[in-house]
Amino acid sequence: MNSYERAASAIRAPLPSEPGLLDFVRFATLAPNSHNTQPWKFRLGADAIDILPDFSRRTPAVDPDDHHIFVTLGCAAENLLIAANASGRPADIRVETEETETRIQVSLGHAPARDQELCNAIPARQSTRSDYDGEDVGAEDLTQLRRAASMPGVQAIFLTERPKLEAVLEFIVQGNSAQMDDPAFVRELKSWIRFNAGSAIETGDGLFAKCSGNPALPTWAGRFLFDRVFTKEAENKKYTRQMRSSAGVVVFAAETDGPEGWIQVGRSFERFALQATVLGIRHAHMNMPIEVAELRPAFADWLGMPGRRPNLVIRFGRTAPMPMSMRRPVDDVIV
Ligand SMILES: Cc1cc2nc3c(=O)[nH]c(=O)nc-3n(C[C@H](O)[C@H](O)[C@H](O)COP(=O)(O)O)c2cc1C
Repeated sequence: MNSYERAASAIRAPLPSEPGLLDFVRFATLAPNSHNTQPWKFRLGADAIDILPDFSRRTPAVDPDDHHIFVTLGCAAENLLIAANASGRPADIRVETEETETRIQVSLGHAPARDQELCNAIPARQSTRSDYDGEDVGAEDLTQLRRAASMPGVQAIFLTERPKLEAVLEFIVQGNSAQMDDPAFVRELKSWIRFNAGSAIETGDGLFAKCSGNPALPTWAGRFLFDRVFTKEAENKKYTRQMRSSAGVVVFAAETDGPEGWIQVGRSFERFALQATVLGIRHAHMNMPIEVAELRPAFADWLGMPGRRPNLVIRFGRTAPMPMSMRRPVDDVIV
């Protein structure tokens, strides 16, 4: 193992036999999160953990209304819940909003352990941004994925027919083109890319080039090349290939628009992602149609939910794993 692999696997060590609150927080931080900014803080109580947004880690260009922050907190809360359940500390989740602050309160109890399989999948799950094998996942596995995504207040729309996936791809290409034409989006994305293992380990956050299938480079060379090879045409070509190699897409949509609904979406998505991991199915985000505000209404119309806000677009299928992403040390996220 090289130093990057050692660091990435250390934060993914299995839970000890009698985990404490910090172990549950570590598993929560293994959740997917937008641009790997890890916009969360954890406050420990007696048998309770509050999960709070860390607005100092906002990404205003891609996420002007903090939608992704709350989806991310939902993913972290679901990991915490599953890790606690698997350790015989069943958790109860409540979303509290006081004035303008929304936080998630997790309280821990005692009961026989459950959810072991999903808990084991937490350190193995990853966003896999590569071409998939082009095969269907099979009806049985699809049923299990649908069941996993089922969550009150969230609609998970599974699309597997080729003409429908081609229609989604058209929205993705339109969205990606708009994002690539937006200098603020490109500047913000570039600022979160970690071009080599050294800088990914040092910050413990951001998008390590190799996790997206790109070579590791000295930071100066990475920044120089980024401006030259990261073009609209090249990205659209890559996304077209990736979509056409995927077995399907699932779109998550909350019934209510606001932090509580977005947190529920994160929880539903994370259960889907962990069940997929259990089944050897990989997933990656294709969020352009929901990130570009001007495109969202047309996408919602196409989905048959006019006036509503679809929250996530995820492709899935089978392929080999990519390098795992980094996380900050647990101590850095405790307040
Ligand atoms: C709300 C949300 C939005 C995301 N948007 C994108 C996206 O647009 N493109 C992408 O490649 N990954 C996206 N991701 C995935 C994150 O980049 C990924 O979770 C993070 O880099 C950590 O990597 P991991 O999932 O492999 O642990 C998103 C994740 C979340 C939770």
